[in-house]
Amino acid sequence: MSFDARAKEWDKKDMRVQGAKIIADAIMQQIPLHKKMELLDFGVGTGLLGFTLAPHVKQVYGVDTSAGMIKTLEEKNTKDLFIKPIHQDIIAQPLEQSFDGVVSSMTLHHIEDLEKFFTQIYKNTKNGGFLAIADLTKEDGTFHSDNTGVYHFGFEKESLGDIVKRCGFKDIRFDIINTITKPHKNFDIFLLTASKKED
Ligand SMILES: C[S@@+](CC[C@H](N)C(=O)[O-])C[C@H]1O[C@@H](n2cnc3c(N)ncnc32)[C@H](O)[C@@H]1O
Repeated sequence: MSFDARAKEWDKKDMRVQGAKIIADAIMQQIPLHKKMELLDFGVGTGLLGFTLAPHVKQVYGVDTSAGMIKTLEEKNTKDLFIKPIHQDIIAQPLEQSFDGVVSSMTLHHIEDLEKFFTQIYKNTKNGGFLAIADLTKEDGTFHSDNTGVYHFGFEKESLGDIVKRCGFKDIRFDIINTITKPHKNFDIFLLTASKKED
């Protein structure tokens, strides 16, 4: 089923809501956020990660290719808790704007060309800024009941770290921050953080 079709029901799964909170907490433990920061949540969905980080920064922008997800996010926006939505494929049509940090939750496995993605995201990160990406560690293809649009069955620390490094990021760190328990198996979630440091 497409993300458009799943958007309305997305927040009803407690595992997703709790999982995004754990990711947000892990990001905030590693990276001191402050009220002058502008963050990009890549694959923002309904904003489960972005809305948790938003009170700690100046502005969260949320990019997503699903109109349905963006619509559900917009319905959750209030004057006090607000994500600026961007409905765009920023790999095919890059954004000019750069951010103090790029965060992402459970979206990387939907991105076919990782080299292209991290090259673009590097350009969208300010010098001194950070990257914080959470996703599945290597799995056997049974995490999703339907693997349509899934380009990677999770990621390995070394190979993902190599790509991120080749694309220019420094200080790469990879931690297991959560385990999702499904009836047939447990799936580990990692948080990869890195920084952009140019002379
Ligand atoms: C598994 S959902 C995660 C949503 C949200 N981050 C969360 O944790 O609840 C993946 C999201 O990535 C979006 N997505 C997939 N490919 C994308 C792309 N190329 N650019 C931006 N968003 C994309 C989907 O539309 C979907 O909203």
